[in-house]
Amino acid sequence: MSFTAEWLALREPADRAARDAGLVARAALAAGPDPVILDLGSGTGSTLRVMEPHLPDHAAWRLVDNDADLLEQARSDAHGSVETRAMDLRDLDALPLEGVTLVTASALLDLMPADWIARLADRLAAARLPFYAALSYDGVMRWQPHLPGDASVTRAFNDHQRGDKGLGAALGPDSGPRSVEILRKAGFRVHHADSPWSLNGAEAPLHRALLEGIASAAAEAGNADAAEWGRNRIRIAEQSRCHVGHIDILALPPCAG
Ligand SMILES: C[S@@+](CC[C@H](N)C(=O)[O-])C[C@H]1O[C@@H](n2cnc3c(N)ncnc32)[C@H](O)[C@@H]1O
Repeated sequence: MSFTAEWLALREPADRAARDAGLVARAALAAGPDPVILDLGSGTGSTLRVMEPHLPDHAAWRLVDNDADLLEQARSDAHGSVETRAMDLRDLDALPLEGVTLVTASALLDLMPADWIARLADRLAAARLPFYAALSYDGVMRWQPHLPGDASVTRAFNDHQRGDKGLGAALGPDSGPRSVEILRKAGFRVHHADSPWSLNGAEAPLHRALLEGIASAAAEAGNADAAEWGRNRIRIAEQSRCHVGHIDILALPPCAG
């Protein structure tokens, strides 16, 4: 599954507004006085850009992703100490954890299966590393005005989100609560907060792109009315409000603050 730089750029302002500000600040603190941060599935570096103002200038970043083009863009946009590494996250033993003080991810856990999150949790617990994972989709989408099909398309989209995104059946909308449970079982103290997108007419370009994606995924998942629903929703995107639920998680190892 691939994500374009255009899509990531379109969603970044909404992601930034949605992230729980308290957890961003606590994650930055958990990185310690000499932060070395490993960002998993970094894309073009949105987590780096959000956390930068909360970190000292000498903070160092390692961005990992399996998309070399996104990493290239991340490198060219970044200033400060930023290394990039193209790798497939299925190989958790290959994560470059040496010297790392915080591990981050955003819009990633919902693509992953439970066993991957459990293996990651065990690896980070063994290394006593804090983990900040933002913006996991929680399965809730609502629109104003309501249209017939909103609920059935959401159900079909959620089924699609539980499909294989490369590493086995993804947790999709279940990723937030399941990750909290898995991280707690691995010994972390876990804090979490809702981080919904709240889109209105000003975000119509993002809303329209999102609707195209939802309609096509729901159609693939067998909803015969999804394409027409998508066309109708796109037609009124500028006059609509849209809520898309997410969860942010900060997991602290037993001895961290
Ligand atoms: C939804 S995007 C989020 C990107 C970025 N974290 C952000 O919030 O803008 C998911 C990212 O995970 C990366 N990714 C997905 N599966 C991966 C895998 N198996 N190995 C490495 N990267 C992966 C994708 O290339 C993409 O950049």
